[in-house]
Amino acid sequence: MTRADGPRSRRSCLAVPGSSPRFLEKAQGLPVDQVFLDLEDACAPLAKEGARHAIVKALNEGDWTGKTRVVRVNDWTTPWTYRDVITVVEGAGASLDCLMLPKVRDAHQVRALDLLVTQVERSAGLPVGRIGIEAQIEDAQGLVNVDEIATASPRMETIVFGPADFMASINMKSLVVGEQPPGYPADAYHYVLMRILMAARAAGLQAIDGPYLQIRNVDGFREVARRSAALGFDGKWVLHPGQIDAANEVYSPTQEDYDRAELILDAYAYVTSERGGARGAAMLGDEMIDEASRKMALVIAGKGRAAGL
Ligand code: GLV
Ligand code: MG
Repeated sequence: MTRADGPRSRRSCLAVPGSSPRFLEKAQGLPVDQVFLDLEDACAPLAKEGARHAIVKALNEGDWTGKTRVVRVNDWTTPWTYRDVITVVEGAGASLDCLMLPKVRDAHQVRALDLLVTQVERSAGLPVGRIGIEAQIEDAQGLVNVDEIATASPRMETIVFGPADFMASINMKSLVVGEQPPGYPADAYHYVLMRILMAARAAGLQAIDGPYLQIRNVDGFREVARRSAALGFDGKWVLHPGQIDAANEVYSPTQEDYDRAELILDAYAYVTSERGGARGAAMLGDEMIDEASRKMALVIAGKGRAAGL
């Protein structure tokens, strides 16, 4: 979904179990770009009904200023999805930015969610189409269909990699999410990350990396985050307050890169102007800059400005 004020910042996306009033409260004070209040795997089956109402209350009464507010519903193969959507959107639709749909396998599943949300928006008198969708890719079928998933609805905002479910579904020989499986000499995640990134970018969406489960190992988190950040991912899930600063830092440009990007933009604006000789390319120090350099610099500068550098 193209928003008038540009894409939302999602460097750090905090998972908050919807069944925990304590975490729903605590999350409001943490410096994350996004929260997602979870009705899926962080909520036990018997706790889901109560969690729906706790989430509605927290969205309506909490202070989420500065954060993108997302609720993760259950996937369409469960008996819970439609009630998750109806309860949350009817009860707190005006205080909600996106729904996250897990284990998405094809475009129909996104369209079904779009239709249901549209119905609830209409019946509740909410503006139609404002609530976005985040789709999690968590198995081989979802990955194979990722292009059609990315373009399935104008509500689509992000494609999210779900490494825990994904690795289980393809039988990868790794028990530690994010760590390389023993025996493979290269980066076993590269293909999946790149595939998701290409689908997301081709559709004009954001690409978000999933969780790192060893929550006390912040260096491990940082290393895994750096891999997807280097490719161009926009952010990563955080499961614990200890991971937040690392995510915000890794998915922001460094001050040095940001300053350089602004310099390239200024220099390019000058050389292409009449005063600067209306040239198409010029030297900036040892580097030649042209229109492609401007585009690359604009990406870094945009992220740096959003991060307040
Ligand atoms: C997240 O949902 C995951 O499965 O990694
Ligand atoms: Mg999952």
